[in-house]
Amino acid sequence: MNAYEKLLLENKAWSEEMHQEDPEFFKRLSALQTPEFLWIGCSDSRVPADKITGTQPGEIFVHRNIANMVVHTDVNLLSVLDYAVNYLKVKHVIVCGHYGCGGVKAAMSNQDFKPVLNMWLRNIKDVYHIYKEELNGIKDDEHRTDRLVELNVKEQVYHLAQTSIIQRAWKNDNSPHLHGWVYGLKDGLIKPVMEMTPNSPIDPLYHYEDL
Ligand code: CO
Repeated sequence: MNAYEKLLLENKAWSEEMHQEDPEFFKRLSALQTPEFLWIGCSDSRVPADKITGTQPGEIFVHRNIANMVVHTDVNLLSVLDYAVNYLKVKHVIVCGHYGCGGVKAAMSNQDFKPVLNMWLRNIKDVYHIYKEELNGIKDDEHRTDRLVELNVKEQVYHLAQTSIIQRAWKNDNSPHLHGWVYGLKDGLIKPVMEMTPNSPIDPLYHYEDL
């Protein structure tokens, strides 16, 4: 059997199991999704949003990219955010990084990963640049990477708050809450590192007045 065929077999078994547990499950979900959470996570295969949070299909709207970045020119991320906030009316947006992130490690190296990856990793290098004094003071490589993972999550939450999408929702709906979390590959535990409640103060440079 090819490796991919196993996935299809597993899918069949899962479908049957779900149907047995709750015969209305698929019928209900095919009609409507009302997730309360938008998850912006890393594409890393070891950090599956639903598994590590014990959520079921329909409970969490997911966007993943390398190193869980919120890049203000990324149409993919922004359309997911717009849809989740304005149509699904999610109450929480979670940026979840993870310790030992390969994208963060790559951005801390001086290796040339060729144009497209260089372009993406540049966004992480820019976060390092903001905190370089603190980071350069950490001698241990693993600790320095893990601290950048935390700081990167924090910056990406700020990036969310800097969008007109979030600022308009804060003004009109007093929602959503923004969260920055970091997942530990070694213990499977999530550590919350920051939170922004609706209408938290942001850098005036990024504040929109005429929403
Ligand atoms: Co990663």
